[in-house]
Amino acid sequence: MCGIICYVGKQPALPVLLEGLKRLEYRGYDSSGIALLEDEQIRRFRAVGKIRELETGLIEWTSDAKTGIGHTRWATHGKPCVENAHPHSDCAGEIFVIHNGIIENYLALKQELITAGHRFLSETDTEVVAHLIEEACREHADLEEAVTRALARVRGTFGLAVLSTRHANSIIIARRSSPMILGISDSGTFAASDVSALVAHTKQVVYLQDDDLAVLTPDGYRITNLHAPAEVNRQEQTVDWDVDAAEKQGFEHFMLKEIHEQPEAVRNAMRGRLVPSEGISVLGGLAGVREQFLRMEQLILVSCGTSFYAAMLGRYILEFCTDFRVEVDVASEFRYRRLNLRDNTVVLAISQSGETADTLAAIREAKRKGALVLGLVNVVGSNIARETDAGIYNHAGPEIGVASTKAFVSQLTILYLLTLYLARHQHMSVTDGQEFIRELESIPDKIEQILAKSAQIQQVARRYAQFRDFMYIGRKFNYPIALEGALKLKEISYLHAEAYAAGEMKHGPIALINPDFPSVCLATQDSTYDKMMANIQEIKARCGRTIVVGTEGDAQLPALCDDFIGVPASSELFAPLLTVIPLQLLAYYIALENGCEIDQPRNLAKSVTVE
Ligand code: AGP
Ligand code: GLU
Repeated sequence: MCGIICYVGKQPALPVLLEGLKRLEYRGYDSSGIALLEDEQIRRFRAVGKIRELETGLIEWTSDAKTGIGHTRWATHGKPCVENAHPHSDCAGEIFVIHNGIIENYLALKQELITAGHRFLSETDTEVVAHLIEEACREHADLEEAVTRALARVRGTFGLAVLSTRHANSIIIARRSSPMILGISDSGTFAASDVSALVAHTKQVVYLQDDDLAVLTPDGYRITNLHAPAEVNRQEQTVDWDVDAAEKQGFEHFMLKEIHEQPEAVRNAMRGRLVPSEGISVLGGLAGVREQFLRMEQLILVSCGTSFYAAMLGRYILEFCTDFRVEVDVASEFRYRRLNLRDNTVVLAISQSGETADTLAAIREAKRKGALVLGLVNVVGSNIARETDAGIYNHAGPEIGVASTKAFVSQLTILYLLTLYLARHQHMSVTDGQEFIRELESIPDKIEQILAKSAQIQQVARRYAQFRDFMYIGRKFNYPIALEGALKLKEISYLHAEAYAAGEMKHGPIALINPDFPSVCLATQDSTYDKMMANIQEIKARCGRTIVVGTEGDAQLPALCDDFIGVPASSELFAPLLTVIPLQLLAYYIALENGCEIDQPRNLAKSVTVE
C-alpha cells in the first residue's frame, strides 16, 4: 500500500533510492528502509519515522553499490517499528524483500515455515515471502523460479521487489493488484510503485500488469508471467507528467484520486474476510474477544465527524440485521453523559487516523467503566489501535485529502462485515448470508459505474456552484449519507449546508426553502421512496430547486426534479455505499468551480489531536 523504489545501473544506488523515497513521502508512511547489494553482500538499513531519520542513520555509510531497493511502509500487519520495517530477509540474510499490499494467508504459511525451521524476526505478513523464496531455493530452484514458486503459494495483493546475493546485478519485481512500474534510462533500470518516484530520472516507463514478473538488469528488463515462463511484451510509454501531477496519478487533487480509489478501498476492506460458501465473515482481529463480544448486551459506537456518520449508518444496519441494542454517540459528548453502561457493554471506536483526541478520551472513559473497547481504525499502530482491546483495520491505504472519502466508504464496508459477523450468530440464515455477500461484492463495480458519470455530476455542480445555501435530506439508511454529503460540501467549499432526516422537513427546515436554497434529496427505490417523493413535491411547491440522487432507470423522478443523478440498483441496505459517491463528487466539483483549496481546506486538520 505504500512506496517502493528500486534501481540497478551504473550510478551509485543509495542517492537514487533516497531521492525516490522522498518523492514517495507524500503518500504517508510510518517507517522506511533500504538494502544495497555490493560485492556479493547485502547491507540493510531501516528507520522509524521520516526519511530524514533514515538519512541521518545512513550518514556514516559510504557505498558504491549500484543495485538497491527502498521502501516506505504503511503498516498493515504489525506496529510501525524497526523490526517490522522493510526490507525483510530470509534466515540466511541472502534474500531481501520489500512489499506493498497484504498477504492474506500469511499466518498459515508462517506456521508451516516455522515448523520447517525458519526463524521470523518481524510481525509482518511480508516476511513469509522471503522465507518461502528461501525454501524454494533449498529445493534447488534458481531465484526467478523460487520467487515464482513462492508467489504461487500466497493469496492476497503484492507489489514486491527481491534482492539477493544469489543474483548479482539484478532485481526481481512482481505484482498482483498493487501497482509496479518500470523506468528505463541510459543510466540504468528502475522500478517503483508510483511514477512520481521515477519521473525525476526518466519518462520512459512500462506499467506491469497483474501476475507479471520482471527481472531488472543495468541494461534493461525481461518480463514473464507468474503462471507461464514465456516472455511477454509490455508496451513502453512516455509519461508527460511533472512530479506534482505524478503524485496525484494525474488527478487534480488527492481528494479526487481518493474518491476514485473507493472501489479498491471496498475490495481491500473485504479481502480475505468473507467465506461465501458459508455466508459468513471472518474478522481475525476480533478472534481473541469473540466470546465476550457475542455475549454483549449493548454496543455503543463512538467517533467524530465523518467517522460518526459511518457509526450512525452502522447502527441502522446492525439494528436491521441483528437483535443487539446499538447506540451511537459523538466521542466528544460521550464523556459528558452519566453513563450507565450495562453489563457486557462493548464500545466500538471508529477512526481513520486513530489519533483523534476526543475519540481517545471516550475510549479511556469506557475502559474505566469496564467496557470491552474495540477499534475500527485505518492507521496501524496508532494510539486508538493500541489502546483498544481488539479491533479491525480498514486497509484503505493512506488518506491524504483532509476531507475523508475512501476511509468513510471503507468504514461502512467493515460495518457491513461486522453486521454479517453478528447476524450469522443470531437469526440470519446461510442463504441470507450468501445473498448479503453477493450484494457486498457487487458494490465495487457499481461504484465504478457511478465514477464513470463524473462528467455529468460536474455539469450539475456547475449549475449550482453560485448558490450559498444547500439542504440535504434522506431517510433511514440514506439519512447518515445526507449528513455526510452536507459535511463534505461544508468542509471543502465553505458553503452553508444543512442536513436533515427528511421527515423533519415540515417540522421547521422547510421554512428555509426558496429558489436560492437548493435541496439535495436521496431518493433511491426503497421502503422510504414514496415518502421521499412527497418531500420532493413539497420542496417543488415552494419553488425550491432539487438535485435528486435516485435509482437508475427511475421513471418518475427525472421529470419531477431539476437534476437527477442515477446510481445502480441495489437492495436498500447497501444503497448508502452508492449514494454517497455522487455527493462526494458534487461537493468536489462545486468546490473546484469556486476555486477552493480542496486538499487542505481552511481551518481543518487531517488528524484532530486536541480535544
Ligand atoms: C472528515 O472529512 C473530516 N475531516 C473529519 O470530520 C474527520 O472525519 C474526523 O475528524 C474524525 O477523524 P478520524 O476518523 O481520524 O477519527
Ligand atoms: N503488509 C505489509 C506490512 O504490513 C506491507 C505494508 C505496505 O504496503 O507498506 O508490512
